[in-house]
Amino acid sequence: MILKTRQVTLIVILLFAWLHNCYSQTAMINFAGRDRIMLNGNWQVIIDPVGAGDGKQVWLEKKLEAKTDFAEYSFDGGPILKVPGDFNSQLCELSFYEGIVWYKKQFQQIKKQGKRYFLYFGAVNYSADVFLNGIKLGTHEGGFTSFQFEVTRLLKDGVNTVIVRTDNHRIKNGLPALGFDWFNYGGITRDVALIQTEESFIKDYFIHLKKGSLDTVCGWIKLDGNVDKAEIKLTIPEINFSSRLETNNEGYAEFVFKAGLELWSPKNPKRYQVLIENGKEKLIDTIGFRCIEVKGADVLLNGRKIFLKAINIHEENPLKKRRCINENDARLLLSAAKELGCNMVRLVHYPHNESTIKMAENMGIMVWSELPVYQHIDFTDNTVPLKMNRMLEEMISRDKNRCGIIVWSLSNETYPSASNRDKVLVELTKKCKSLDSTRLIVHVTNSQNYRHNSFEVRDTLYKHSDLVAINEYAGWYIPWQGKPSDTKWKTLFPDKPVFISEFGGEALYGSKYGQADEAAYWREEYQEKIYKDQVDMFNTIPHLAGVCPWILFDYKSPSRLHPVYQKGYNRKGLLSEKGNKKKAWYIIKAFYNKK
Ligand code: GCU
Repeated sequence: MILKTRQVTLIVILLFAWLHNCYSQTAMINFAGRDRIMLNGNWQVIIDPVGAGDGKQVWLEKKLEAKTDFAEYSFDGGPILKVPGDFNSQLCELSFYEGIVWYKKQFQQIKKQGKRYFLYFGAVNYSADVFLNGIKLGTHEGGFTSFQFEVTRLLKDGVNTVIVRTDNHRIKNGLPALGFDWFNYGGITRDVALIQTEESFIKDYFIHLKKGSLDTVCGWIKLDGNVDKAEIKLTIPEINFSSRLETNNEGYAEFVFKAGLELWSPKNPKRYQVLIENGKEKLIDTIGFRCIEVKGADVLLNGRKIFLKAINIHEENPLKKRRCINENDARLLLSAAKELGCNMVRLVHYPHNESTIKMAENMGIMVWSELPVYQHIDFTDNTVPLKMNRMLEEMISRDKNRCGIIVWSLSNETYPSASNRDKVLVELTKKCKSLDSTRLIVHVTNSQNYRHNSFEVRDTLYKHSDLVAINEYAGWYIPWQGKPSDTKWKTLFPDKPVFISEFGGEALYGSKYGQADEAAYWREEYQEKIYKDQVDMFNTIPHLAGVCPWILFDYKSPSRLHPVYQKGYNRKGLLSEKGNKKKAWYIIKAFYNKK
């Protein structure tokens, strides 16, 4: 049987698609420095509350030919949503929606000879199935990290159609899993673009100070494509450094050299322009150099002891009541943190937008980046460690050249009683060290005992954590057990720096209900008292290396149900969702001023 060319092409495309119907690739780094066409803007959507679109194969956009043909779906005539942007804040019928939304975007492209093409996503919450011209490219799971698909062969000259099935259903073996105390914003929440590269291109690199050194730069560069023994050029013009490197046959080259650099620090957020050249390709990045380490019970930045004056931040624009999507959103959050006197921000509980990380670095604010391994994780499900590893790889891959990031946080408030927890998280810690051993690696818990005015810290995870990072809500979830300034501390980890990663209590800005000294009325005075007491208690903590109030702004959390005081908001902010300063703000500002 002789197959017609059309049949052969179709079989090749289907074979190709089957082969590629796998998981997305880790995105190439330095998205901002790439040759790209942004696919942001208006996207047509189909809201699919019962998942009917799968059966109808909406990605095929059935062509109606015969008079008897009809389709029970269409992107034409349906709602339009903005990308990047969560879908919940854009359409009131989607306010609390957790489910499937199909997105469609068409774009023109003329393919150039010898070029490769990648479809890049900054983030899609929670899972994304991506189709190009009716062919499935693959899937990505996890709402806060970037990913890509190579589409060189599938891309057409002319009009191309991307369809994305987004789904923010909570899943038991998800990261996070079923329960979490923030708003589950869904959809295509960060940039989308078509990236064009050379046949062989600079896929990845890591350029940093050698661990524990203040004057030795080291790292590696990795090419993708026909890369055998290629020559790369690395240049840092400002220090007159330039070096030619030859890759091995996997396109990989390492380097190490001495350099007299001005080191990055909150007081002097110095960064250097770095150029990497690979034939015609030139990639530019702006990189700072600093050394962060723990020595005994101290945290040292560039060899000097530092106190981490931090604040927790969720990736939400409180004024616009939506996921942050751009630099203005980042500036709103970071400038408030700066005004509070912070030298660090803990970005919770998931990797935030790349522009936030870059802006923090530029503003001289250190960053704590965290994986959504949050509370009720199902450590017995054998897909969970795989998902964790991938998310970790994606988080570190994107941000490893951001010197502002000093901490990789791998888990928050997981339960010591959860079976398999330690085994899985210890493996994850090892993996993290293998990917990047130049930063602090931390696990956060709240499993300490607090009674008889004494804290007992003993979570086994701290063995694998560079900091003893404790979430404690003395004065709110648990009343003070005695005079805060007389608090006693028993710890199994006496030689590690202690970091109070969360503390605080709720207040409704301007609440005049009930009595100021009663928790039930969400009074600012009550929250203020908690902060005064916490500051008193801080003096009792051995090796305290930093603190981090929960949280900068009141933020949306559907589990906060009180109709008067909460209205779907976690009200532990030092600022209301309108940016009003609560009384407790001034307690921390004064504390940080003194530090
Ligand atoms: C926890 C948790 C936060 C949560 C906070 C709270 O410690 O880590 O995500 O929002 O407590 O209860 O307000």
